[in-house]
Amino acid sequence: MNLSGKKILLGVTGSIAAYKACELLRLLQKEGAEVRVAMTEAATKFVAPLTFASLSKCPVYTKDGNPEGRPFQHIDFPRWADLFLAAPASADCIGKMANGIADDPVSLCYMSSACPKWIAPAMNTTMFLSPAVKRNLITLRSFSDTQILESPSGELACGENGPGRFMEPAEIVRALKNFREKENGKTVLITAGRTEEAIDPVRYISNRSSGKTAVALAEAFWNAGYRVVFVHGPMDISAPTFAENVRIKNSLEMYQAVMQRESEVNAIVHCAAVADYRPKHVSQTKIKDSRSQLNLELEPNPNILRDSVKNKSAGQIIVGFGLETDDVKNHGAEKFEKSGADLLVLNTPVMQNAGFGFDRVPFAILEKNAPIPELQMHTKSELAQKIADKVTCLLESSHA
Ligand SMILES: Cc1cc2nc3c(=O)[nH]c(=O)nc-3n(C[C@H](O)[C@H](O)[C@H](O)COP(=O)(O)O)c2cc1C
Repeated sequence: MNLSGKKILLGVTGSIAAYKACELLRLLQKEGAEVRVAMTEAATKFVAPLTFASLSKCPVYTKDGNPEGRPFQHIDFPRWADLFLAAPASADCIGKMANGIADDPVSLCYMSSACPKWIAPAMNTTMFLSPAVKRNLITLRSFSDTQILESPSGELACGENGPGRFMEPAEIVRALKNFREKENGKTVLITAGRTEEAIDPVRYISNRSSGKTAVALAEAFWNAGYRVVFVHGPMDISAPTFAENVRIKNSLEMYQAVMQRESEVNAIVHCAAVADYRPKHVSQTKIKDSRSQLNLELEPNPNILRDSVKNKSAGQIIVGFGLETDDVKNHGAEKFEKSGADLLVLNTPVMQNAGFGFDRVPFAILEKNAPIPELQMHTKSELAQKIADKVTCLLESSHA
């Protein structure tokens, strides 16, 4: 789900993990969400409401009401919210939410919210594994408007090691973002990461692609309702858990993986940084250091974008990526023309603090029969969203 502009009501309960809700609030704001906070009395013993009021820039709903003294806050906050998130959720509050008890601000907001509800449990392992908590979580899972965020196993504040840990705030945000509100019955294949072209058993030729843009693309398409096939080489970040991941190492493997699947997908986004050349001869043993000149003979790899355009099925949309370091617009236009792709994302790594490994990238999306736009700096998520929107539009018009 897209968190930008979402109104999130964060319910904080009496857990040792309550301090992590401050970071969670900040991360949700970073995604563009507006956050308000409700706290149980026990939660206020762990973190002062003033902290959450300052971070959310809104009075916190506690048992004492709020400084503005609005009498209907238990209705106003839930009515305002697009999403209710109890994090951390104590065993006690989970019990209340599962059984219709609403005698504190968090369980009361849970019951009076008509929006989707998410619960991130946090407690000691023995409590988490107790029959009562297990039963209450089963009950909550059976409610159609409620999602439980799985507690990971690990070391707890009490020293025990096992399930019941509070999911890390960044993981909660990721889980919310990856939650799909709708499915559109379409599949996109995204190529990602870099390739490694072996020279000998220990050396290879590669490049600096981190895979960040491709992961952002997978998330944007997934959120837009697509099934995602993610064909990826080595990357600096993890592949998306929701995608069908196909791991490859070199360009020939990537070529085969794409060609095998291309007829089954509605769109292909060629985001991977695939090596243009590979060593003609791969030494079976490590090349010895003789301190004399060493020449590597390279041969061209197949052009995956060009061949997927050649085999393109009716109504399929193909997106290429072009990276240029000089005369960017002209070289990009030439590449677009030659490729035959429906869209070409032109980018350059030469601006400061942008491109490889960074979160921002200067880019322009080239479309058929349209003037070439100027490159503009955006985050990789914004770029991914724009591409997903354009592909969805093109797919809709190709079937109209
Ligand atoms: C130091 C400390 C840490 C606690 N941590 C947790 C916890 O992580 N999870 C939990 O369910 N209860 C925990 N408790 C117990 C709850 O605070 C207690 O059950 C409280 O009544 C919960 O109230 P609430 O659900 O209204 O917030 C802790 C208690 C103390 C004193």
